[in-house]
Amino acid sequence: MAKRIAVIPGEDAAPEAMGAAVELIDRMGLGLEWTYPLVGEPARAKGLGPFPAEAKAEIDAADATFFGATSGASTRALFYLRWGKQTYANVRPTRWSPGFATPLKDPTGVDFVIVRENLEDSYVFLEGELTDLEPLDLTSPTVRAKAHELGPGRYALKVITEAGSERVIRFAFELARRRKAAGHPGRLTASAKWNMLPKTDGLFIEAARRLAGDYPDIEFETLIVDDFAHRLVLRPQRFDVIVLPNLYGDILSDAAAGLAGGLGLAASGCYGEKYAYFESAHGTAPDIAGQGIINPTASLLAGAMMLEHLGLANAGARLRRAIERVYAEGRVLTPDQGGSASTRAFADAVFSALA
Ligand code: IPM
Ligand code: MG
Repeated sequence: MAKRIAVIPGEDAAPEAMGAAVELIDRMGLGLEWTYPLVGEPARAKGLGPFPAEAKAEIDAADATFFGATSGASTRALFYLRWGKQTYANVRPTRWSPGFATPLKDPTGVDFVIVRENLEDSYVFLEGELTDLEPLDLTSPTVRAKAHELGPGRYALKVITEAGSERVIRFAFELARRRKAAGHPGRLTASAKWNMLPKTDGLFIEAARRLAGDYPDIEFETLIVDDFAHRLVLRPQRFDVIVLPNLYGDILSDAAAGLAGGLGLAASGCYGEKYAYFESAHGTAPDIAGQGIINPTASLLAGAMMLEHLGLANAGARLRRAIERVYAEGRVLTPDQGGSASTRAFADAVFSALA
């Protein structure tokens, strides 16, 4: 049966990247069906809310969602894709390939994956006034004052649960195992700031240490997250799979993308037990909106991950190889990569490079 994909292009320049990506993947002739749930501005223009019930139903009915990037208008849809669909594992690969505009002197062998917990941590969106904490009568041992007397000011909750940690860590171990079977080192790095946050981040790391027992075939290490950030920049080649709580994963996956050639190349897939959606890790690039020069590589690589997820692994690999060929030749690249090609011209070059 034809696989159906819900496409949410997003705002600013993101739809230009998504349009090119969808068209190219469609031209691969895989018999995919594309549906376009109305969300954000286009929905509002029709007198609907930012995330109408029909859009939700279309996402539910699709085999996967392909998402561009949001600057706000389609955020409700994005939140539904994360929390509504419980896509708890955010997979962000960083793989350098010849021609990618890396700042590294020697990027050879940079090939790792950050698995970011996608639903908890600071992303529970529980913030408030410090004075609201009065009934809890909490005393800060470092500041040596009552929490509600620290202000005027605000607090944010950071929530780490055992189940939430275990499922994403298990996912990361399984990914390391699959990668090992494909020739990667079979190493998992778990990182957080457990020296300063022994209860929350400590729980995350303890869960990782416990689960490591189930994966004796995977080399396991823990690194405090600031140390990890330093090592990531100095020698990214030593990493294979890294599992991180949500906020560290958000920040460090952008840093990781910078190492290999920038956010224009950074793909992301968010997986739950029953659903997955795929997006670029970059924002909406409002500064270049309407110019037709946004790099669609991140969307295309996310598309390749989506094809793999849909059981079309060969097509996904074919697409990835075609992208790599275009970069290796270096003749048709977008401005962020030092070229002068348009979004469309780049996508056409990738299409021509499909073998
Ligand atoms: C990302 C983005 C999102 C996040 C925003 C758009 C909510 O930065 O996917 O990394 O913070 O998770
Ligand atoms: Mg981010």
